Amino acid sequence: MKTIVITGVTSGIGKTLMMALLERGDKVVGIGRSRSRLFALDEDFKAKGYRSYRLIKADFQSLKEIKDAGESIRKNFTQGIDVLINNAAQMTKVNATTNDGFETQFQVNHLAPVVLTHALLPLLKMTNGIVITTASNAHRKAKYDPDDLQATKSYSPLRSYCRTKLYNVLFTRGLNEHVLKDTDVRAYAVHPGLVRTDIANKESSTFYKFSFRFFMKLKGIETDEAIKSYLHLIDHGMDQDIFYVSESKEGKLSKAAMDDTHRDHLWKETLTLLDITFSD
Ligand SMILES: NC(=O)c1ccc[n+]([C@@H]2O[C@H](COP(=O)([O-])OP(=O)(O)OC[C@H]3O[C@@H](n4cnc5c(N)ncnc54)[C@H](OP(=O)(O)O)[C@@H]3O)[C@@H](O)[C@H]2O)c1
Repeated sequence: MKTIVITGVTSGIGKTLMMALLERGDKVVGIGRSRSRLFALDEDFKAKGYRSYRLIKADFQSLKEIKDAGESIRKNFTQGIDVLINNAAQMTKVNATTNDGFETQFQVNHLAPVVLTHALLPLLKMTNGIVITTASNAHRKAKYDPDDLQATKSYSPLRSYCRTKLYNVLFTRGLNEHVLKDTDVRAYAVHPGLVRTDIANKESSTFYKFSFRFFMKLKGIETDEAIKSYLHLIDHGMDQDIFYVSESKEGKLSKAAMDDTHRDHLWKETLTLLDITFSD
């Protein structure tokens, strides 16, 4: 039985993954942004007879809520956790800024995983655990612009989303390179496939809603297929140098994702923006 923390459990891939882990007896902490959806999930889990879970409310548009969630897990899981799965993300249609002053997708999709990983790393070190961040092959469409990390110059929601998925990969590489090298903790990024979820139907524009719905219907896989890479990583890990995983094997990275200058630039800028270090 493993202790696993997953973000974004109230729908899509995260929900299916949490249920699959509970079904096989793991202990799972699920994080979601909506109190009512968490309540409904709780009712559903109780009806299914699951007992070994905890649900925490944290909207990643607030850095404080992410830090509070991390703090609560640290207080309650003093024996450590085995796996952190940074899965939550959103697609927005407008160029909006959070109360913390960051472009919304930049904060929710990139900064939130960094903050939560920073908070929970001491627990992962206790078990030689793993960090999995849900990236996407959409990262291959992104360019790295060191002068416009939040993609606010001539804003496009899709461009911003793709960049945050590139950052998920670069962050995973940065974490392995700058923090985990001398430890037995490993970080992975996963491309779950094109998956039939509502991610593009929630806050994106009518154009994206229409085109994503069309593509997902045509080519998408179901969430129970998409979670196989996560289960494989949790149970078996990967060969030493593989960190980007798709369909339970090594995924294909873009040039920008493999670039060490980008990796190190994003790492330094992100820690400066958040005013954290991983050595504390
Ligand atoms: N679907 C695909 O084809 C595809 C392909 C590649 C990668 N991905 C990635 O897979 C991951 C899961 O996405 P999905 O497809 O399963 O979509 P989804 O069903 O929309 O799941 C996203 C999850 O993130 C949560 N979330 C969104 N904004 C949040 C915020 N501000 N604070 C906290 N949680 C928030 C959502 O909460 P609510 O339930 O309240 O909305 C939901 O639980 C994402 O990282 C996505 O980028 C998806």
